[in-house]
Amino acid sequence: MSKSDSGAPIDHREPVNLRDVAELARPRIDASAWDYYAGGARDELSLRGNRVAWERIPLHYRVLTGHAERDLKTQILGQPTSMPVMIAPTAFHRLAHPEGELATARAASAAGVIMMLSTLSTVDMEAVCAAGPGPIWFQLYVYKDRGLTRDLVHRAEAAGCKAIVVTVDAAIIGTRERDVRNGFHLPPGIECRNLVGTGFEEVSARAGQSGLAAYVKDWLEPALTWEDVDWLRSVTRLPILVKGVIRVDDARRAADYGAVGVVVSNHGGRQLDTAPATADVLGPIADAVGDRVNLLVDGGVRRGTDVVKALALGAQAVLLGRPVLWGLGWKGQAGVEQVLEMMRRELDEAMALSGCGDISTVTRDLVTGGT
Ligand code: FNR
Ligand code: LAC
Repeated sequence: MSKSDSGAPIDHREPVNLRDVAELARPRIDASAWDYYAGGARDELSLRGNRVAWERIPLHYRVLTGHAERDLKTQILGQPTSMPVMIAPTAFHRLAHPEGELATARAASAAGVIMMLSTLSTVDMEAVCAAGPGPIWFQLYVYKDRGLTRDLVHRAEAAGCKAIVVTVDAAIIGTRERDVRNGFHLPPGIECRNLVGTGFEEVSARAGQSGLAAYVKDWLEPALTWEDVDWLRSVTRLPILVKGVIRVDDARRAADYGAVGVVVSNHGGRQLDTAPATADVLGPIADAVGDRVNLLVDGGVRRGTDVVKALALGAQAVLLGRPVLWGLGWKGQAGVEQVLEMMRRELDEAMALSGCGDISTVTRDLVTGGT
């Protein structure tokens, strides 16, 4: 660090990878919010396991394939995206930056990628959807109050969201012990903007526990069933994706119940600790239902090579969770844009060195070896 003419410190470090962005973001984010973003359930084994599983998979690159340039463009549910990377739904972006989800949506639009917006957004969904031309998919938490839940879906539709992503791995909040210790809650001035006026907008402090865990226990439906997917289909014409699946039979059922997509996810290791790493379950799920549903995957994706591995295993795209929050905390919209550009450069490099000219050539043999 040195000083500018005005005496303000200048940070000369330019991040080279996503870990660097995390380091730059950390001092800018309140410690309790940092722990909330970074943490996983209990011993954080699944949190670490997600990362380790991507690292463990070797890439069997092809040679002499004659591609001077790569085309990273693809489509997800028929919606064009500049690369097979999406923004995962994460709650409370204003804990990272005052512009919150608005900055994230602008960055997604600038980068030409699709953003999933959490029910627990700290900016109104209408404002987020108006932030840019880029498609927004609405992530739905089902409240015990189904009328309210239906209203959220209808608002998302009216605001122009292009899909509903219903999260099914959060019947209750897995215990993130950091949040219990910190008594995690939203500070004054930050609230769940999509719930304003319903009585469910605040995530307040509760003695001896995470305010979010208490919120979810009080208001969200703990006993969802597959029939609720039918119900959801009956209240919206938007395509429905089911997020939080890690088993082949559940993925099949999601397809049977009319979901157009499945997000293979263990919620970034934040729900059931010791849940399997998503990289380890993706291949079998793709083999079983890859021809019936759009498959997306998240959890510990931090490198361009991880994206190539995910596509090779059968995903259409990956979702980035925490890295987006790091970019946002570091420098708002510009930080998120840099995170996405970093992933783009890494993906391009990984495809170049794997002998892939476009997304359609990223096939299973890259992770199994040629025959
Ligand atoms: C999440 N995730 C999440 N998922 C969801 O469906 N609705 C939500 O509101 C949230 N909120 C949320 C907050 C924070 C701080 C994190 C880190 C995660 C889970 C998220 O969509 C995704 O599954 C994981 O974050 C992916 O893992 P990585 O990329 O963070 O390792
Ligand atoms: C979380 C919830 C909000 O993971 O999905 O914190």
